Amino acid sequence: MLIGIDLGTSACKVIAVSRSGEVVAKVLRHYPVHTTNPGWAEQEPADWWAATDEALTAVTASLPDRGREVTGIGLCGQMHGLTALDGAGEPLRRAILWNDQRAARECEWITDRAGGLDELLRMTRNRMLPGFTGCKIVWFREHEPELFTRTRRILNPKDYLRLRLTGEYATDVSDASGTGLFDVANRRWSDELLGLLGIDRALLPDVVESVEPTGTVLPGPAARWNIPEGTPVFGGGGDAVIQTTAMGLLDTGPVGFTIGTAGIVAGGASRCPDNPGGRVQVSCGNEPGRWHVMGVSLSAGGAFQWLRDALAPATAADPVTLERLSKLARDIGPGSEGLLFLPYLLGERSPHVAPEASASWVGLTPMHHLGHIARSVMEGVVLNMREILEVYRQAGLPCDRVVASGGATKEPLWLQILADVLNRETVTVTGVAEGGAYGAALAAGVGIGWWRDLTEAVGMLAVEQTFTPDPAAVATYDRIFQRHRHLYEGLRPLFAETVPA
Ligand code: XUL
Repeated sequence: MLIGIDLGTSACKVIAVSRSGEVVAKVLRHYPVHTTNPGWAEQEPADWWAATDEALTAVTASLPDRGREVTGIGLCGQMHGLTALDGAGEPLRRAILWNDQRAARECEWITDRAGGLDELLRMTRNRMLPGFTGCKIVWFREHEPELFTRTRRILNPKDYLRLRLTGEYATDVSDASGTGLFDVANRRWSDELLGLLGIDRALLPDVVESVEPTGTVLPGPAARWNIPEGTPVFGGGGDAVIQTTAMGLLDTGPVGFTIGTAGIVAGGASRCPDNPGGRVQVSCGNEPGRWHVMGVSLSAGGAFQWLRDALAPATAADPVTLERLSKLARDIGPGSEGLLFLPYLLGERSPHVAPEASASWVGLTPMHHLGHIARSVMEGVVLNMREILEVYRQAGLPCDRVVASGGATKEPLWLQILADVLNRETVTVTGVAEGGAYGAALAAGVGIGWWRDLTEAVGMLAVEQTFTPDPAAVATYDRIFQRHRHLYEGLRPLFAETVPA
């Protein structure tokens, strides 16, 4: 039995996967995000560990041999976070998360130090985006020098779990890519960039491939979960990358659309793609000789959850749920009768690098009600993802098939809107509900030799649902897409004025 652990932004998910690829157990434990300043997002590493411990205890207890059958563990998690540890491996502050926008200025400084964007792209293949670990390190050094001086290691979130599981300081190539300090083409830290930025290489962990082991579970946790001592823990991957693997997308052609908290448009490649202008994110893929390209929108399902939460206090006796909002949205026709939503609640990373952007509705009239509002949020999110697809294709990558994943795939309306807005048949495949955790289990399975490689592992995936574009809706969305694109340009000057002081 394989265990896949996904350290997400809202919860830790632990699953158990059998050799036939079946998910036989799944437990989720939530934890909070702390927002103490506009644009900031932090979490307690202790909360991550407590949630993982509880979820693993529950999963192993539910297995037929109560954990004795576990043969390997794969890790995945939210990318780009900064977890600063002292010499004893203890967190020195709350972790700063991927969707935290505080380090926008540091990105400019880093780009200058690198000798401009083209030089930075030469060294790493990526623009330094606000949210990436690299700019957070610089922010931390400047704003909290006392804590920074005491820092001995900096880890991405899932690698903090690895430390607690195995005692090892290590990361995998896909998560390392998301620091912005990694030479993605050559699969190693960019010593050149680290030197220019004055960041000590010793602060960063060793790097392995996703299918390679990084030590074994320590005796204490192994006994608590009743799993065999010496159970190997594998490299795993950054969630956004390894969930593309979990969708079976290892090479160019099909494109994955993930609607989770964030919205991700992504695909695999078997050569390291160029990234002219740094408009996409290029990462190492989950086995040697594989790469990954994506554009990430910061608010997707997260925008829909925000809508629910914003409405909740007014209707406490009669709560508004996501299901209820979706049901209301289903009664409205494509286009929400002229109501358009731009989903930049947290600023934006793609299709526009715009940390200062904010969300808005345009076209509201008294005839619109909650159903229109709900549907317009879904449509705005998906239209934004269509714009990301255009950026992705400008990077020279094709899109001949759409595979959807993420929490939103539970709601058929999201999938139909995807098919209609993209004018492409849209499918979901086995394991869709598990996303990155499933990919982490597959990588561990390759690691222990259950499957020869990821190609053989994803050969088990089958199509589960298919959504076909409706020609009338396609025509409507084509028209709306043009308006949607102009809106961002029109509103851009205003965003600069509303930036918090
Ligand atoms: C990827 C990204 C998100 C986070 C959170 O670049 O920022 O997918 O990994 O899930």
